[in-house]
Amino acid sequence: MHVKLLNKFLVLLILPVFVLLFIPAAASSGNSCVDCHKTVTPFTEEQMRFNQIRIEHLERHVTCSLECHEDRIRNLTTTNYQQWSLSLHALKGITCDACHGGDPTQVTKEKAHADLKNTTDPTSPVYYTNVPATCGKCHSQELANFENSTHYHLLESLKLAPTCTTCHVPHTFTVLSPEDFRTTCGTCHSVYTKVAPYDIPLRAEDLLGKVNRLKFNIQQAREDIYWAKENGTDVSRAEVYTDNALNMLDSLAPMWHEFNLTHFENEIDAANTEVMKAEALVKPSPTPTTTVPATPGFVGLAGLISLLAVSYLIRRK
Ligand code: HEC
Ligand code: HEC
Ligand code: HEC
Ligand code: HEC
Ligand code: HEC
Repeated sequence: MHVKLLNKFLVLLILPVFVLLFIPAAASSGNSCVDCHKTVTPFTEEQMRFNQIRIEHLERHVTCSLECHEDRIRNLTTTNYQQWSLSLHALKGITCDACHGGDPTQVTKEKAHADLKNTTDPTSPVYYTNVPATCGKCHSQELANFENSTHYHLLESLKLAPTCTTCHVPHTFTVLSPEDFRTTCGTCHSVYTKVAPYDIPLRAEDLLGKVNRLKFNIQQAREDIYWAKENGTDVSRAEVYTDNALNMLDSLAPMWHEFNLTHFENEIDAANTEVMKAEALVKPSPTPTTTVPATPGFVGLAGLISLLAVSYLIRRK
């Protein structure tokens, strides 16, 4: 009886020790920033968040009602850790220190944060004007293109302009979908805020639609190539054209960051031309077309007219 009770008591005593010893070890990522911030919610009070946004806006010369940033506020009501853990960055092991600095091998907050700057400090790597360089350490192509943009030049001279995180919001850092353009670009490019050109949101949405159609066209061409190959056709030329188109497609996302929409559209058109060249070689003809052409075409028509003219002249003589 007593022994049993004592046993139970011992188990109850040992269990928490076990949990303390092994669970944190199992859940530890070997990165103190991630481990600690998993349990810490730095800015819990709603007011602090709103204040933070307000301060950031003032710094960026943005005057805006909070309603237009509903999404951002919703984002901020989950913790930085939660948002980050859903991102591609988390999946690829890009931890907090990659952008914020600090020492992820230190376990205490003081030591880990030793060289960490406040996000509102102009020398912080995540201060909005320093963000392009911070992200550009890994996203060099995007940075190189961005440096060629009007947006970047404005940012450099501390004017109203988007930085990387205006469009790829911390800490999910997702890419935009076409529907997002009206809100993201429209925050600045609208008659209300008077940042020309006003048709940017619609044009940008339209262009991303064009990129998606290009993806579809490439896919279609590759299917046609597959079947042509099955039928014994030599598809090597066609494959060169689709490879060209694929390379151009890959360059589109980085190139986007020049924010030169005409250049961007020309590149989409050029890629589509490559796809058409491939299709011309492999596309199965829908109906037999080897019979006499239904219409004489321009050359035929011109020939006919000149023939009539000549016979008319001969008759007059
Ligand atoms: C032992 C716990 C702990 C560790 C380890 C830790 N932090 Fe923190 N961190 C906190 C707490 C708590 C806060 C809340 C704000 C405060 O009190 O400074 C915070 C705040 C922050 C902030 C907001 C600072 C601001 O005011 O702008 C950033 C950014 C940050 N941490 C990044 C990191 C990075 C990067 C690492 C790893 C190099 C790290 N933290 C390691 C506990 C920790
Ligand atoms: C890919 C880069 C990147 C990573 C990874 C990253 N952050 Fe940030 N973080 C930023 C940027 C940029 C800002 C500035 C946000 C702004 O100005 O809008 C920021 C802001 C913050 C802030 C200030 C409050 C806020 O939300 O604006 C905290 C706190 C913070 N990060 C914590 C973390 C923690 C904790 C992690 C890891 C779990 C992390 N960050 C991972 C780039 C990053
Ligand atoms: C230490 C390297 C590193 C840093 C710094 C970094 N990233 Fe990334 N980022 C990656 C990797 C790796 C991926 C995964 C995709 C890939 O391999 O290109 C990625 C993916 C992305 C994606 C695509 C996400 C998706 O869902 O398709 C975006 C957008 C992005 N990063 C934005 C940023 C921004 C903005 C910053 C700066 C605040 C930043 N990154 C800083 C390494 C980094
Ligand atoms: C004004 C908005 C805007 C700004 C500023 C911006 N981006 Fe982008 N970014 C986009 C759009 C739009 C795409 C195209 C992908 C999509 O949305 O479908 C994209 C795509 C990306 C991708 C994914 C590329 C891929 O191969 O899929 C990365 C990574 C990225 N951006 C990083 C950055 C970095 C780094 C910066 C700053 C130097 C930056 N972006 C600035 C809007 C922006
Ligand atoms: C934070 C404000 C802001 C946001 C957000 C913003 N822009 Fe801009 N953009 C500007 C400013 C300011 C100019 C310069 C206007 C001028 O020259 O008067 C500009 C100019 C442009 C130009 C013309 C560039 C040139 O060389 O003339 C294009 C294209 C452009 N933006 C595209 C976009 C797209 C696409 C988005 C959304 C993905 C976007 N912008 C989001 C502020 C912004």
